[in-house]
Amino acid sequence: MKFFADTADTAAISELAEAGLIDGVTTNPSLIHKSGRDFLEVTKEICALVDGPVSAEVVALDHAQMMREGETLRKIADNVCIKVPLTIDGLKTCRALTNDGTMVNVTLCFSANQALLAAKAGATFVSPFVGRHDDNGFDGMDLIRDIRLIYDNYDFATEILVASVRHATHVLESARIGADVMTAPPAVIKSLANHVLTEKGIASFTADWEKTGQSIPIA
Ligand code: E4P
Repeated sequence: MKFFADTADTAAISELAEAGLIDGVTTNPSLIHKSGRDFLEVTKEICALVDGPVSAEVVALDHAQMMREGETLRKIADNVCIKVPLTIDGLKTCRALTNDGTMVNVTLCFSANQALLAAKAGATFVSPFVGRHDDNGFDGMDLIRDIRLIYDNYDFATEILVASVRHATHVLESARIGADVMTAPPAVIKSLANHVLTEKGIASFTADWEKTGQSIPIA
């Protein structure tokens, strides 16, 4: 499963990229607002930090204007992936951009039928929001299971990009189900390294090493 960082924080992206932990980045208007940066400028910087897809979202609601915005965004870098909302106008934009060879991420997906439409429109990625689904009394992971089943039934090439990931269990379940990608805030990605027995093991090894009185010679 590919990991994308769900952030526009370039320092956090650099840190994860340096450790080889991420395969791409997703942003949205709220994350751009949080970064306090100029949209085009920060997107260009992020595209240079990772080789994989970097989602940049249009803000228009109608197809014609989405196309104009998409045109601007796709000139930022070869690895830009245009993010469009799961509406009929968004799907029309998706079809037009993918026909032209541009990657498209269809976002704000909350049902398997919506995911079916995204696949029909030729989306590169569909983004079902599991955390927001959970918040509204549904099981976000059930949505991922349904989409996986449907896409496999018909061999759709659209990749399932699990979004709105809030905790380690969302990541684990996504991998069990066979999602293609998950995008999570840097803190969630880093939290996957945590285990109480790892910490305990480090503490006991460190204590025993100190008792040896030795040190490893540094060349
Ligand atoms: C990613 O593409 C989404 O925009 C993001 O995962 C939404 O996450 P949130 O529900 O935590 O805002």
